[in-house]
Amino acid sequence: MKKTNFTDTLRAMFPPVVKRWVRNIYLATGLRKIPSGISSSSGDTASLQKIGFLHGTDKGNEDHSFRGVSNLDVYARHFEPLRNKEISLLEIGVLSGASLRMWKEYFPHARIFGLDIDQHCKRLEEDRISIEIGSQTDTSLLECVAQKAGGFDIVIDDGSHVNKHILKSYEVLFKHLKPGGIYVIEDLACSYRELEKIVSDKGRGVRELWPGMEYNDPKEDLNNSRKDLDVFFERTISDLDHKRGEIASIEFWSGVCIIRKSGKLPA
Ligand SMILES: C[S@@+](CC[C@H](N)C(=O)[O-])C[C@H]1O[C@@H](n2cnc3c(N)ncnc32)[C@H](O)[C@@H]1O
Repeated sequence: MKKTNFTDTLRAMFPPVVKRWVRNIYLATGLRKIPSGISSSSGDTASLQKIGFLHGTDKGNEDHSFRGVSNLDVYARHFEPLRNKEISLLEIGVLSGASLRMWKEYFPHARIFGLDIDQHCKRLEEDRISIEIGSQTDTSLLECVAQKAGGFDIVIDDGSHVNKHILKSYEVLFKHLKPGGIYVIEDLACSYRELEKIVSDKGRGVRELWPGMEYNDPKEDLNNSRKDLDVFFERTISDLDHKRGEIASIEFWSGVCIIRKSGKLPA
């Protein structure tokens, strides 16, 4: 049986609903100021950056920005036309659910799906947010979520950041993207590193350093080689150049790749 660690104990002591109350009370006190540069509008016109900040996502922070442009700035450009549509969005990698709650607020008519290997994430489900537990390499699980959703308008891979996992998820899920749909692969800097060699001063590797990575098969090599993704990108770009396949566009930003499926966006 798995030993209960300190984080598990904390999670059990403070269920997500309590953590959310504490956060909302904290925000209501005004102690946590919206940074300058983020619009202070609210409701349906609140910017993705503001909603993301309030939900505590890291997708808008310095680590996810390059020269003042964050992942959220990039996503806002792509996602704004879909904002008020009845879309379905899947994010691989749930962690504390910050980004799922951000998507739920940003897309008021969307169904949000999360998938994570860590079973603790299941308790983060709420109205319009469904969470599946399992690996992003599990073909039958991915097929099952796609069937449940009836296909996706947006898929965001923010899971293990292990290249073979990224490629497997893409192989299964891209065909379930609706026409005009958007497939995002996040944190590409990780894809170019030998992940097992990232170690802390206590000699711990990525399985211990990154949340949830411990649930991956202990025998599996989690190292990445830049070549794996470069081969995939080259093939995808070549398919586009030769008008093969179903790709409409591929856009690279620092650390993020946004692949759009051909076809019209939902009306
Ligand atoms: C970067 S965190 C996700 C953060 C979240 N998307 C957000 O922005 O708030 C990565 C998550 O991937 C999960 N993960 C690790 N390996 C996985 C795998 N093989 N399949 C699915 N999820 C995995 C971890 O449990 C962790 O919760």
